Amino acid sequence: MNNELQHIYELGEGLETLDRIKARIDGLNLRYFIETYGCQMNEHDSEKIAGMLVRAGYTKAETKQDADLILFNTCCVREHAEKRTFGNVGFIKELKQINPRLILGVCGCMMQQREVANRLFARFPFVDLIFGTHELKNFPAMLENCLDKKRVFNVSDSDGEVIEGLPVERNAGFSTFVNIMYGCNNFCTYCIVPYVRGRERSRKPEDILNEVRSVVAGGYSEVTLLGQNVNSYSCDGMDFPRLLTLISNEVPELKRLRFMTSHPKDLSPELIMAMAQLDNVCKHIHLPVQSGSDSILKKMNRRYTTADYLKIVDELRQNVPFVEITTDIIVGFPGETEEDFQATLDLVKKVGYSNAYTFAYSPREGTVAARMEDQIPDEEKKRRLNKLNAVLAETIPENNEKYIGYSGEILVEGVDHRGEPLLFGKLSNFKMVYVEGDESLVGSFVDIKVDGFRFNSLFGHIAN
Ligand code: 5AD
Ligand code: SF4
Repeated sequence: MNNELQHIYELGEGLETLDRIKARIDGLNLRYFIETYGCQMNEHDSEKIAGMLVRAGYTKAETKQDADLILFNTCCVREHAEKRTFGNVGFIKELKQINPRLILGVCGCMMQQREVANRLFARFPFVDLIFGTHELKNFPAMLENCLDKKRVFNVSDSDGEVIEGLPVERNAGFSTFVNIMYGCNNFCTYCIVPYVRGRERSRKPEDILNEVRSVVAGGYSEVTLLGQNVNSYSCDGMDFPRLLTLISNEVPELKRLRFMTSHPKDLSPELIMAMAQLDNVCKHIHLPVQSGSDSILKKMNRRYTTADYLKIVDELRQNVPFVEITTDIIVGFPGETEEDFQATLDLVKKVGYSNAYTFAYSPREGTVAARMEDQIPDEEKKRRLNKLNAVLAETIPENNEKYIGYSGEILVEGVDHRGEPLLFGKLSNFKMVYVEGDESLVGSFVDIKVDGFRFNSLFGHIAN
């Protein structure tokens, strides 16, 4: 991809608009509440919207009831999200009657689907603001219009661009996100993402580096680089393994560097070597396999075979000690036979995942697979999903035995109060470990030794 050809948008004027809003609402004590559905990309978009709202003088509300602006950031990857969103939006009508200055907005991937956005706009006249994923840069102007009591509908058919200069209100904690690229060119036949997130476009390495430096200076010790397919990052002659190397070398104070999501078809030996050689690059990879059947993978347009996938898994395991692999799997894709499904179960047993997100195939309007013959009945999809989850429930703990006596380092994330209070935190490879210890350790890195395991987590003690 040629970055010179892509549009980079700097949020200059938008910041002035936000400052103008701040002067206008001064003293009103306006509060915002954002409810986010879907993936980390959406979570992070919400942090950017929150950043703009804070710049405009809003503060965060603890509940919807306390808010003067409620925004639903939606997802459309699977079907049930739609029903839930329409239900949630309907519920806000009452709150608008109690608080007449309340602004209600709906944004995100689902609103990038024009027909769905139109339907929502027509059905709920009390919705003030609707905008799609490509409109983040116009949020300041849209907010100003809403404050002028105008109804705003903003969904455009753009391929998207790279937006720089957005303020970000990051969730508190020790770990945060940095986007490295946006969009997707892969058009897996089941997936709506390329239609609602636009074409692949990568941020410039120096912009990424500056953001990583600034979050580390702000106290974060772990950064997750985000992209729909990080392995196809490409900008100014730099590919993804080189970008990892650059960040790892240029920001040595960064303790942990994570990334997601990786596509098996683009996973290079150079990336495996970068994971093996760079100390602060985490030893975990989220590598969605989607199916264990070659004919289904072909129909999904995934462009790898199970043999290719297993070869990558082997190379990872050979080169990166204690590497852990997580995945996404879809069951009940159109035409999936019992044999295809069994092949998925076999693959799961072979790989030894440390965790897996499993889904029943959900037809998405406009995608190729939604028009395929041999759609699988819901009951059967459910049966396969349950069976797959049962197999995972057996294989995941098997993978834990090798950890008995293992020494490593966790980043303590918090205290679990469900029983005897225990600190919990993850190893570099994303395995969760529970240990006894003082609450003051939350946020720090602690050496531990593993004594046992539960289902997909480990328990141990602090090593001195
Ligand atoms: N039906 C079911 N699961 C889907 N995913 C994406 N699209 C669909 C769909 N139409 C799953 C894939 C992807 C994850 C984010 O969501 O497994 O990796
Ligand atoms: Fe969807 Fe495939 Fe792109 Fe992932 S790689 S976002 S599954 S089209």
